[in-house]
Amino acid sequence: MATAAATTAATDLELELARLFSGDVESLAGQFEIYERLRAHGSVLEVNGDLILTGHGDVRAVLGNPVTFSSARDRSIYGGDIDDLSPAQLAKLHELAGFESGWMNDNDDPVHANMRGLIQFAFTPRRVAQMRETIQSFVDELLTPVDERGEMELVRDLAHPLPLNVICDLLGIGRDRNAEIRAWSDELAVAFDTGHANLDAAYDAYLGFRGLIHELIEHRRDGGDTTDLFGALLNGSPDGTGLSEEQLTGMLVLLLFAGHETTTNLIGNSIIALLNNREQFDRLRDDPSLAAGAVNEFLRHNGSVQSVRRVAVTDAEAGGVPVARGRSVRMLLACANRDPLVFTDPERLDITRSDAAQHVTLGYGIHRCLGAWLARLETEVAVSTLVSRYPAMQLTQAPEMRPMYTMYGPKSVHLQLF
Ligand code: HEM
Repeated sequence: MATAAATTAATDLELELARLFSGDVESLAGQFEIYERLRAHGSVLEVNGDLILTGHGDVRAVLGNPVTFSSARDRSIYGGDIDDLSPAQLAKLHELAGFESGWMNDNDDPVHANMRGLIQFAFTPRRVAQMRETIQSFVDELLTPVDERGEMELVRDLAHPLPLNVICDLLGIGRDRNAEIRAWSDELAVAFDTGHANLDAAYDAYLGFRGLIHELIEHRRDGGDTTDLFGALLNGSPDGTGLSEEQLTGMLVLLLFAGHETTTNLIGNSIIALLNNREQFDRLRDDPSLAAGAVNEFLRHNGSVQSVRRVAVTDAEAGGVPVARGRSVRMLLACANRDPLVFTDPERLDITRSDAAQHVTLGYGIHRCLGAWLARLETEVAVSTLVSRYPAMQLTQAPEMRPMYTMYGPKSVHLQLF
């Protein structure tokens, strides 16, 4: 009997997790209770063919072992029934998957290391720190019209345009392209989360990005700065032969995509977390020097990337269970970030938590987020400016969350400011 009950509990949890991963908004709202039950359940579960890992130590062990657990993956996954696709759609799926598979985060060393080596100079703590004034000026500029209205929709007015302005500035892309980039990024985010359920729109988004990059390359090849990030990418490659246009497009799209929705969502999640914990909001307002540390706690408590995957390249072990070669392992970063074995009173938001930086929201190991310093600085400047500028801000309605699991964040956050 006990075994039957345990099996039923496991099946219930598997179903709940499958619903959560599909981006069901109700499940998302209750995700932390699901994690508690998952932890209590103890053993490792399988959902949609993935082995699910939840413990902080287990997640780090897999991410820290890239030789056994590979990042290379087949992106040609389709969320619906592949038989329903027309030949033209199948061709789109393969082209899109081929393009996505070229990204550094989907490759192992040495390919990954070579790609990362090309651009990491632009994301060092020192380089990023020099961007503080620019980021502050973008925030102030975006908030100027907001001041006059006395209310704002956080995502539309600040959280979305800010990271986009920053990454476009870094890449030398004019602001007039922001609306298109935003629409394309949104489609690619949906494609990732749903296994290309929006195939046609995602493919159009990819073509849009490709066209934009082609234009930029043509423009730059006619002359222009060769010492900035774009120039370095255009001229350099590990073997000195230059990146192909396809590789260059992949790199730039990855930066635009990875550096954008993720930070938008983090800014949104951080403000929601503070407004749901007003004493923490007041603490930050009274002591702005807490802001940098607070961002680590926001990343831990309500991170904007909630899971990552790896595939075992040999028979191995993860979370105390055997993992057969070829098996996919999905790590729930959001759950690991509230592991009571690592964090005291993990459900509580505490912006002065001394070990908040142990979170895994920015990944761990060789693929740890390249834009970590930038994402943190943007969030720090945005959140601390909002808190000091609008100390009485309040939600006017419950935030609406995006129906996505991996890239977690609000669709809209309506605020009364004064
Ligand atoms: C709050 C914002 C962000 C979050 C939560 C986040 C999260 C992550 C995570 C979890 C990974 C590791 C993926 C894996 O191990 O499979 C990653 C990698 C990466 N991130 Fe971020 N990221 C953020 C912002 C940014 C920004 C601003 C940029 C660039 C401008 C960026 C660029 C990248 C790149 C290029 C990689 C791949 C690194 C590699 O494979 O070596 N990210 N990010």
